[in-house]
Amino acid sequence: MSAAFLGIDIGTSGVKALLIDGKGRALGDATAPAVEPTRPHPGWSEQNPADWWSATLAAIDKLSKSNPQQLSQVRGIGLSGHMHGATLLGKNDEVLRPCILWNDGRSAAECAEMEAALPTLRQLAGNIAMPGFTAPKIAWVRKHEPEIYARIAKVLLPKAYIRLLLSGEHVEDLSDAAGTLWLDVGKRDWSDQLLAVTGLTRAHMPRLVDGSAPSGHLKREFVARWGMSGDVVIAGGAGDNAAAACGIGAIRPGEGFVSLGTSGVIFVSNDTFRPNTEGAVHAFCHAIPDIWHQMGVILSAADSLNWLARMTGQKPADLAGAAETQFQGPGAEIFLPYLSGERTPHNNANARGAFVGLSQSTDPARLAQAVMEGVTFAFRDCQRVLNDAGTRIDRLLAVGGGSKSPLWLRMIATNLDMEIALPEDGDFGGALGAARLGLCAATGAAPANIMTMPAIMTVIAPDRGLAQAYADQYARYRALYPAIEEART
Ligand code: XUL
Repeated sequence: MSAAFLGIDIGTSGVKALLIDGKGRALGDATAPAVEPTRPHPGWSEQNPADWWSATLAAIDKLSKSNPQQLSQVRGIGLSGHMHGATLLGKNDEVLRPCILWNDGRSAAECAEMEAALPTLRQLAGNIAMPGFTAPKIAWVRKHEPEIYARIAKVLLPKAYIRLLLSGEHVEDLSDAAGTLWLDVGKRDWSDQLLAVTGLTRAHMPRLVDGSAPSGHLKREFVARWGMSGDVVIAGGAGDNAAAACGIGAIRPGEGFVSLGTSGVIFVSNDTFRPNTEGAVHAFCHAIPDIWHQMGVILSAADSLNWLARMTGQKPADLAGAAETQFQGPGAEIFLPYLSGERTPHNNANARGAFVGLSQSTDPARLAQAVMEGVTFAFRDCQRVLNDAGTRIDRLLAVGGGSKSPLWLRMIATNLDMEIALPEDGDFGGALGAARLGLCAATGAAPANIMTMPAIMTVIAPDRGLAQAYADQYARYRALYPAIEEART
């Protein structure tokens, strides 16, 4: 039997484990749900690292039942994970408090304080201090939970915590490390100055590797548990967005994707480090050597439709279908998708969502259309600030649960005025990219030979007939933000 490789994607809503063969073809996968994040206060979002671990073991144990032979052939493992989460460990690697997640907005005040304490922070980090990032969360813990702060020996990101349990090593890959705000992203190394702003040093940080490089080896107890043999290499892996990019082959400059998951992302690869802090663009390292990437990140994408589905007692897919059936172009209703605050372009954790233009004829289908349009306009905002950074994207692949809606893709293609390509199998989360990184680390294969693009099922072109109506509606949408921003202050 030939070698196999395992990708493990630690998502906010569950863990996915995916097996591939040496040519990158999927052999099987398994998922295990995670316990939903808790929201102890409005705007907070926390999860217990122990829950990621039990979901990881459960997903791989499922694979060992469904694909025992292939799992036993695993030579390399790659990890992908939700980014930015602050996993605080004491000196015996004990977890000190629940992880403060990527969509937690509590640290806005600390962001301002950090930027005041180090006026060159934006230049050094290439990114704004945003509450989603890791460092401001530590600044919050320092201020509000000083007894926990005093016990911090290491800060890991979610997938690095899983790596620690799988391999015993404290290691982080550069794509995920870039989202901490402690990395000198241009130099691809920790920054002593940035670490000092939160009172930390390199000793608190894991060792850094490229995502496609080896980071450690699977402990013998797990090699035995899953029927493997010999040396199983664990790759650096990637933050979930860079991992998804590896999965859909977006590793060359100008290649990118639009992700309609819980959060929404426009991702594009760059040949150099290209920050645009004014537009709250994320400028990070990619998971492969000497490549960087930019992202516009919106915090509630498919999650906005999920929220409306909960409110109306319907399924998100049914709502999207109903919107498609009655669709006749932009209507009167407009939705601002800031249910969890917003990153790009507003950098405002306190922003909140809004519906305007409601009337007696508004029904759930029209609300669903407005929600899909609001998220689409948020992507249009992201594209605008990426363009401001000098980035041009020719074509985007669509990934994530929301990409199953043809109407949503048509809205996005029309508003971004570019073709959107939908891969044949729409499930290109982090797990495939992680498995590919595991393959590269274990075999030394060149990432460019492995990170290929999937077969395309359909290409959605902009609808020229709707372009002007959407330009007008987008202008209305943009004019609404100052009103809700003011309402919050
Ligand atoms: C990216 C971000 C999200 C999470 C979601 O900056 O915060 O995309 O990685 O998993």
